[in-house]
Amino acid sequence: MVTMRRRYNPGNWKKQLCFERIKKKHSEIIEFFQTYQRELKDFLIEDALRAQELVVSNTFLVFDKKNKSRYSTKRDNKLILLGYITVLNDSIRLDASLKAQFRDEGVGYKSLPALKIGRISVDNRYQMKGLGSCMVVWAAQRAVYLNQTSACRFLTVDAKRNSEKRKDTFHFYQKNYFKALNKKEYYSNSVVHKQISGTTLMYLDIYPLVTKLRTGNSLNF
Ligand SMILES: CC(C)(COP(=O)(O)OP(=O)(O)OC[C@H]1O[C@@H](n2cnc3c(N)ncnc32)[C@H](O)[C@@H]1OP(=O)(O)O)[C@@H](O)C(=O)NCCC(=O)NCCS
Repeated sequence: MVTMRRRYNPGNWKKQLCFERIKKKHSEIIEFFQTYQRELKDFLIEDALRAQELVVSNTFLVFDKKNKSRYSTKRDNKLILLGYITVLNDSIRLDASLKAQFRDEGVGYKSLPALKIGRISVDNRYQMKGLGSCMVVWAAQRAVYLNQTSACRFLTVDAKRNSEKRKDTFHFYQKNYFKALNKKEYYSNSVVHKQISGTTLMYLDIYPLVTKLRTGNSLNF
């Protein structure tokens, strides 16, 4: 059984977690998933599999490795879904500062390829244990490996904003090294007005990780 006290390490997620692409056989397990964002549960149950069949997005379910192996040898009678992540191909229109950065490197495109985190959710009972960060690292590593077949420079996400800081996912992504694209903060009378609703498009440049892989280093970060 997965204990509530267990913490997950983003630098070493492979030892603790397994990611499985959603299939029909998971229909019972996903029913028990709990999230305070109703639409994220609805998507998982009603749309994730269909979107996958229609090649619109891929959803991966996240399990604890210990729980999974005990479950498959019948020493645990319950397989617990810790979270899920949905990914799809994307591209971003470069804002002024990225355009200038790429122009200096001799790249004159207006937009560049990316992998998008379409949805990410950790079960309410397992939040704040490092799982969300592990899922971000997993997605960044997938984006890096995409470069063996088609180019991918960024990991992107539309971060859900909330006036309550502990529910404002902008901070979660900032902690995971994402930056805001087209910042919506604005100044008037020397006061910074911060965006606190809707979504903010954020990106993580995976180039440093790609070069790490090219030089034969492991991708742990
Ligand atoms: C956002 C979410 C995936 C984060 O997963 P998690 O496993 O709880 O995150 P972690 O334990 O890896 O948290 C890492 C850090 O981010 C911060 N953080 C986590 N969730 C946060 C949130 N919703 N808002 C603001 N900060 C958050 C934590 O304080 C933690 O910081 P610390 O290391 O200084 O304590 C999870 O809270 C969730 O599923 N929320 C509901 C669904 C949702 O909003 N999805 C995102 C849609 S864009």
